[in-house]
Amino acid sequence: DKAAIGLIGLGTMGSALALNIADNGYKIAVTNRTVSRVAEFTRDAGDLAKNLVGCDDIASFVASLETPRAIILMVPAGQAFDDQIEALKPFLDQGDTIIDAGNTNFHDTRRRDAALAAEGFRFIGMGVSGGEEGARFGPSIMVGGPVESFTPIEPIIMAIAAKYQGDPCAAHLGPDGAGHFVKTVHNGIEYADMQLIAEVWGILRDGQGKSAAEAGALFDRWNEGDLKSYLVEITGKALGSVDAETGKAMVDIILDRAGQKGTGRWTVIEALGLGQSASTIEAAVGARSWSAVKDVREAGAEILKVTPEGGASVSEEDLAEALLAARILAYAQGFDILTAASETYKWDLDMARVAEIWRAGCIIRSALLDDISAAFRGDMPKGRLILAPAFAKRLIAGSAALRRVVASAAMNGQPTPAFSAALAYFDTMRQARGTTDLVQAQRDFFGAHGFERVDQPGAHHGPWAMNPK
Ligand code: 6PG
Repeated sequence: DKAAIGLIGLGTMGSALALNIADNGYKIAVTNRTVSRVAEFTRDAGDLAKNLVGCDDIASFVASLETPRAIILMVPAGQAFDDQIEALKPFLDQGDTIIDAGNTNFHDTRRRDAALAAEGFRFIGMGVSGGEEGARFGPSIMVGGPVESFTPIEPIIMAIAAKYQGDPCAAHLGPDGAGHFVKTVHNGIEYADMQLIAEVWGILRDGQGKSAAEAGALFDRWNEGDLKSYLVEITGKALGSVDAETGKAMVDIILDRAGQKGTGRWTVIEALGLGQSASTIEAAVGARSWSAVKDVREAGAEILKVTPEGGASVSEEDLAEALLAARILAYAQGFDILTAASETYKWDLDMARVAEIWRAGCIIRSALLDDISAAFRGDMPKGRLILAPAFAKRLIAGSAALRRVVASAAMNGQPTPAFSAALAYFDTMRQARGTTDLVQAQRDFFGAHGFERVDQPGAHHGPWAMNPK
């Protein structure tokens, strides 16, 4: 009998996903560019080997699949991915479906969807979150593409997905690039949340002289309350971990230079392109870029010597409340991008469902997401999470702590780019009359760009004659 589905690319994520599918009782054909990996993979699969069909070449791989075929590609993004599609196409029939389960830029997904559809093939862009552990035992899965392409594989996807109180954390979210876009924004929020947590670590370590173990214990405690989330949980564990070689805290022996593979940056680029500003996410992406220029920072530590005036340090309660408020603001900015993209690309994204499928399996899973989905299903003024009654209430309650954290950090010379961005966003959204009246004045003054008046309709400009003194 033939395999229900196939998978090409037995790297970390591909291997874990294939084992998950086999573990759920589906027969899956697998192959890999470096062929020796196939035998190694099936050999190490133990009991699950009975559901694996290891194939050494594309022809036998394609021949081992039920028709119409469904093939997951887990190969590096970019040219390698397009090359793999080209290599596969001659063996496929019309109606076969290629599924991209990687972290792909949704513009590429839209392009491939259109190109393959024109040739009679089907394409699914599927965001998968949860790291290796998630892929193996239950990720959150964000599907984009024609719904009729998804229907045949839906039972498999629902079976392998994480479950939140029995509800699979997987959904078909919209056509073409919708799934990959939602995954990209998920990662953007992930960046912001990680950065906020890192800024708290900075305040605890540099402002309050806390050890990694002490800070870790605090995060452990926070994970019992409103901040309960995967990222807070692993932060507690990471800060509590010790380097076997030196006996020092792990975090203290790690170089402060963070990498990035692109999804956070794409989120910011797309946000700006859509006329939005995901400032907390931008702060997080930027913080990684700043982290990369360690030599500059080392020189800066010598050259830019200042003694900040100092100010009251903040309580642990303030830090927890500020983190929760800033986290809500980061999520809100993420959802604002999704709303804008959904309108622009006509995806009709169901935000409540997006929040629901993030409740388990993915990296940003947190206690908050249940409330976010409820907010999207309830009364939400202007479609904005920050204005939904439950969240407005929480933001108002947390704003004083957020303000104290940002103010204290500023007075003590500690950088909190993400917290500061969150607070500025909050305060801007509370300001019915802002200061772009002056920006409009400047634009009209130097370039006759025109402006709207508060007291009359229509377009106006000048005259900018000065009052005679
Ligand atoms: C996930 C993660 C995962 C990965 C990203 C971000 O949802 O499982 O987001 O996709 O961590 O690739 O990686 P970078 O931090 O390297 O950009």
